Amino acid sequence: MSVNIRKNIPYPELNYDYFQKGIDVSALSLHKMLAAAKKLDAINEWGSVVALTYMAAQRTYPFYTDMADIKAMLESIARSFGYHYGKEKNVRINTVSQSPTKTTAGTGIKGFGDFYDFADSIAPLGNASAEDCANYCITLFSDLTRMVTMQNLYHDGGYSTTGVSMEVMTGGK
Ligand SMILES: NC(=O)c1ccc[n+]([C@@H]2O[C@H](COP(=O)([O-])OP(=O)(O)OC[C@H]3O[C@@H](n4cnc5c(N)ncnc54)[C@H](O)[C@@H]3O)[C@@H](O)[C@H]2O)c1
Repeated sequence: MSVNIRKNIPYPELNYDYFQKGIDVSALSLHKMLAAAKKLDAINEWGSVVALTYMAAQRTYPFYTDMADIKAMLESIARSFGYHYGKEKNVRINTVSQSPTKTTAGTGIKGFGDFYDFADSIAPLGNASAEDCANYCITLFSDLTRMVTMQNLYHDGGYSTTGVSMEVMTGGK
């Protein structure tokens, strides 16, 4: 929820009040939720927490502006809190790094349509849909994944580890 993106402010000219608002809403909110849950002892032993993120935390996507830095912080909080909550109550915390997805937040990003098609043509399996994302998240609430914690997990049809696809090389021919 970047105010800078909503106001079309490019990365080198970020408004720092908006930046701090984005950090609070989209990264610190995870810490605040976890701190409150821990204080109230609201999560069961071996409970599981999942936050959604995007690969701009690892690689540069100019239009993602300050959300890239904010997502990097979100992923870091998942690791840092994952240690403490894991030690205390075996609660696990992961982030799922999802393909571009046509949602309200996704389509709010400038040039999203072209970028969606680009990612789709790179990923061998194509972009992962919102429903696929939901299904993957459910697996992380299962005891079958009980030893997975403090991870950033790519759910992107193979996009993140594909250098280039033949489709992109030949311009879709
Ligand atoms: N859409 C994509 O391409 C994409 C890709 C990777 C990761 N993500 C991440 O997935 C998550 C969900 O986004 P989405 O794409 O489903 O978008 P969305 O717009 O459908 O959902 C965002 C939700 O956040 C809520 N929200 C916004 N501001 C809030 C606030 N201050 N307090 C509480 N709730 C607030 C909205 O009401 C909405 O339900 C986000 O963290 C997003 O960054 C999205």
